[in-house]
Amino acid sequence: MRGVVGLLLAALCAGMAGAAGPLVDSNACLVCHNNEHFVVRLANGGLRSLFVDPERFYKSVHAARGCAACHPGVALGPHAETKAVALAPELQAMLTPRSGPQRLASAECMRCHPDQARRFATSVHGQHAAAGNLDVPLCDDCHGHHYIDRRDDLESSVNPENVPGTCAKCHSNQLVMARYDLNTSVVTTYEASFHGEKRALGSGRAAVCTSCHGVHDIRAPQDPLSSVNPDNAPATCGSCHDGADAAFARSFRHQATTPQRSPVIFWVAAIYKLLIAVTVGGMVLYMVLDAAKRQRQRRRGDVHE
Ligand code: HEC
Ligand code: HEC
Ligand code: HEC
Ligand code: HEC
Ligand code: HEC
Ligand code: HEC
Ligand code: HEC
Repeated sequence: MRGVVGLLLAALCAGMAGAAGPLVDSNACLVCHNNEHFVVRLANGGLRSLFVDPERFYKSVHAARGCAACHPGVALGPHAETKAVALAPELQAMLTPRSGPQRLASAECMRCHPDQARRFATSVHGQHAAAGNLDVPLCDDCHGHHYIDRRDDLESSVNPENVPGTCAKCHSNQLVMARYDLNTSVVTTYEASFHGEKRALGSGRAAVCTSCHGVHDIRAPQDPLSSVNPDNAPATCGSCHDGADAAFARSFRHQATTPQRSPVIFWVAAIYKLLIAVTVGGMVLYMVLDAAKRQRQRRRGDVHE
């Protein structure tokens, strides 16, 4: 008897899912997951939020495909262990070291975006992911997961304006980068460079990290296929700077300006900072002295308003 009821229920649910379409599917999940205070306790005692903000989800690029696009195996009832989709071995290798929903949902990203996934598998990040390294990014580390916006949307983590911040999460992290003996000042040296300064001044054309390094196919500079390898850098710069040669390509390095390396830039910057300090400091001093004088006058009753 119970089996029959079960079958009937299953048929009813399948019918509902088929007729209702993805938007209703999402609402059915959000009935529980739209609660800001929906947290569960992990085995190690920590807390994990299971909240999904409906407003931000419904304005994301994947809204129309519903939760099931990335969580196809999750049923409405208690969530049973689900299996990831089968992928090509080089893609599967990047996911194997990961666990939980990241592993399952990222497999779905790769299924629907195979070109990006295949390119990513050849990158320095993808190669390290396949070797079991958990410090390198997977799709959701750069894109987020529930609130992925189009790249020209200013809120997108991969909008050119936000790319340096997205890379900085790891590349400015001393703890992580020390394990690979990598330069942690790549972001600050970029921000201080002509491209960084032009961007800060509102130029939409100046290079960001991905203009030079590529996007899903980022490689180490010494890799002969890297876009910033000395052999390929002239062509990379040349996509924006007509006639860029090897000497021009060498004009950018992730190095801080020091008095030895670039004396003119260093001293002009130093004098500029000193002038700012003197001007702002002088103004503050003037305001403090002026306020003190007024206070004294008021106490003496000199001021009649
Ligand atoms: C009745 C409330 C409820 C509904 C409806 C619901 N969930 Fe959940 N969900 C939970 C609870 C409780 C947990 C945490 C316990 C667990 O993992 O079973 C959870 C956990 C999850 C997790 C994390 C799983 C993990 O192992 O960490 C995902 C992903 C998820 N739900 C997706 C969905 C999707 C997609 C839907 C719609 C098909 C959905 N949920 C509908 C209550 C619900
Ligand atoms: C574009 C793919 C995508 C869609 C669509 C999607 N998710 Fe997820 N979801 C993910 C990924 C990827 C993770 C794993 C994140 C991680 O652990 O790094 C995840 C994790 C979760 C979790 C665990 C908590 C968390 O945020 O890490 C819950 C709960 C969840 N999803 C529910 C939902 C619900 C409900 C919907 C529909 C409203 C939905 N998801 C739609 C990709 C997606
Ligand atoms: C069921 C298939 C499917 C899944 C699963 C899926 N996507 Fe998508 N994704 C699409 C489609 C289709 C579009 C284009 C939407 C449009 O143009 O309206 C898209 C758009 C995007 C875009 C925006 C492209 C742009 O124009 O800027 C990004 C980024 C993206 N997906 C990343 C991901 C990531 C990361 C995951 C996993 C967390 C994922 N997708 C999972 C189908 C999917
Ligand atoms: C290191 C960060 C990073 C990782 C990891 C990453 N992406 Fe991207 N992705 C980007 C950036 C930046 C863009 C925007 C490219 C542009 O502006 O031309 C982008 C664009 C996209 C787009 C839009 C179409 C396109 O190719 O421009 C899709 C789809 C996409 N990524 C899917 C994925 C998937 C799937 C994965 C995992 C296999 C992934 N991304 C991993 C940074 C990343
Ligand atoms: C989730 C963390 C994370 C994010 C986000 C990330 N990276 Fe990385 N990246 C790493 C780690 C860890 C390595 C070290 C792997 C190795 O080379 O041994 C690395 C390696 C690299 C390398 C090769 C360095 C070398 O000489 O070996 C380059 C270039 C690079 N990343 C550029 C970027 C750019 C550009 C972005 C943003 C679009 C980015 N990364 C985003 C973690 C990250
Ligand atoms: C104008 C082109 C250009 C831009 C923009 C750029 N880079 Fe680089 N990057 C290079 C070149 C050339 C090298 C190799 C020489 C060097 O190390 O300076 C390099 C090297 C690197 C390395 C390897 C450093 C090491 O210690 O081996 C990382 C990581 C990196 N860049 C990340 C970034 C990040 C993150 C951004 C954005 C904040 C960025 N780059 C912006 C051209 C660029
Ligand atoms: C995405 C396009 C793009 C790429 C790729 C690019 N640049 Fe630029 N670069 C610009 C823009 C835009 C400016 C600012 C021009 C202006 O408004 O004066 C600029 C300015 C400069 C300047 C300041 C002097 C000048 O010529 O205006 C130098 C030097 C420079 N870039 C070097 C490089 C080098 C070296 C590379 C390759 C490693 C490179 N750029 C890659 C777009 C780019």
